[in-house]
Amino acid sequence: MAGQAVGRGASPWVREDGAQHTFRVARDAFTQDSILSLERENIFDRCWIYVGHESEIPERNDYLTRQVAGRELIFNRDRGGAVHAFLNICPHRGAMVAREKKGNALGFQCFYHGWAFNNNGRFATQIAEGNYPPDFNAQGCANLTEVPRLESHRGFWFVNFDRNACGLIEYLADAAAIIDLVADQSEVGMEIVGGTQEYGVQANWKLLLENSFDGYHAITTHATYFDYLANTAGSMTQPLLLGDNNRSRGVDLGNGHGMVEYPAPWGRPVAQWIKAWGEDAKAEVEAKERRLVELFGPERGHRMARLNRNMVIFPNLVINDIMAITVRTFYPTTPGQLAVNAWTLAPKNEAAEMRRWRLYNFLEFLGPGGFATPDDVEALESCQRAYCNSREAGWNDISKGMMKSSPAADDEAQMRSFWREWDRRLGAGVAP
Ligand code: FES
Ligand SMILES: [Fe+2]
Repeated sequence: MAGQAVGRGASPWVREDGAQHTFRVARDAFTQDSILSLERENIFDRCWIYVGHESEIPERNDYLTRQVAGRELIFNRDRGGAVHAFLNICPHRGAMVAREKKGNALGFQCFYHGWAFNNNGRFATQIAEGNYPPDFNAQGCANLTEVPRLESHRGFWFVNFDRNACGLIEYLADAAAIIDLVADQSEVGMEIVGGTQEYGVQANWKLLLENSFDGYHAITTHATYFDYLANTAGSMTQPLLLGDNNRSRGVDLGNGHGMVEYPAPWGRPVAQWIKAWGEDAKAEVEAKERRLVELFGPERGHRMARLNRNMVIFPNLVINDIMAITVRTFYPTTPGQLAVNAWTLAPKNEAAEMRRWRLYNFLEFLGPGGFATPDDVEALESCQRAYCNSREAGWNDISKGMMKSSPAADDEAQMRSFWREWDRRLGAGVAP
């Protein structure tokens, strides 16, 4: 392995040299089973992991089932409206007690032997009661198991499988304020629209993580999309400005979270109008921006309206607030394979016309059949395939913009913040 660590511990996977302005990550970190085991134990079992948005379970007794960090979970509201996350496993002999994707139910009944549970998790009945002592459930052994920790910020719910983890707000660090920039786009709340986009990629999960806030690749990988925009009258307000300018930046948000922020070259339903949307939409979008300025002042209001944000919350939540808002999580199934869940988020009270453009934007660029995702998937799978060469060519370079005090959105500072935290959590770096 090339290079010497300077200023940090002798990590086998991350080599940062502050004097030379170089930052390198071992390609083995994307391919090894032993690394994935360490990631499960030190990252997915210990960090705050996104489970769902409050709008996905709006009513009492609503529930959905979801795979989260290698577990099967039920995320629901009970009869009193309280939110829970249960491990979707029967306390009897382990069948999944909820097998639908979503629904509304006062409780759950295991189909195997019929044990039934109130939707607050408490055991309710089973058909052979006389065969157990009356105090059988005195210790709660027949209740559903709740995840150790469940907390929310602005409608985004997270679980943590480490009972001793710090609170969610402390964990989110500066990412909490960026979530606020999204949540504040509606005075009556935001909602997930439609269902889940699920797809798989033959690549390590960290490749999609890097890609999700990688401004550097936009012009080359997505050349087709930019050609299309350039040839579609009224679809751009200006060229894409990711490089050095006073509104483009790559930001370390603390605890491994990061973001790029830059002026939007395309229309944003909240709130940057483009000619292609027609004159009728103009009044609507401009009124939205004026309202944001009224509520939050000119700086924050214009920022919310006109800047794009691509954010990664460590380890695997992406919130990209661009021409539409995508909320995305992904999990490793093997070192070379990942499973994605993606949703679109929108203001609840959005005008029908703008909702239509938003959904169109979401499918056109962000969806698995859109302009962006297939090109990104091709890039990630190309990297993964080539990592078989890592014995002779073992290091990725993530140094771009390292010598700058204010990195731009097409630099790699936000990725370095991820990798430092990844390294620290795997026990290889120097603990702070
Ligand atoms: S496994 Fe659920 S009732 Fe037996
Ligand atoms: Fe991309």
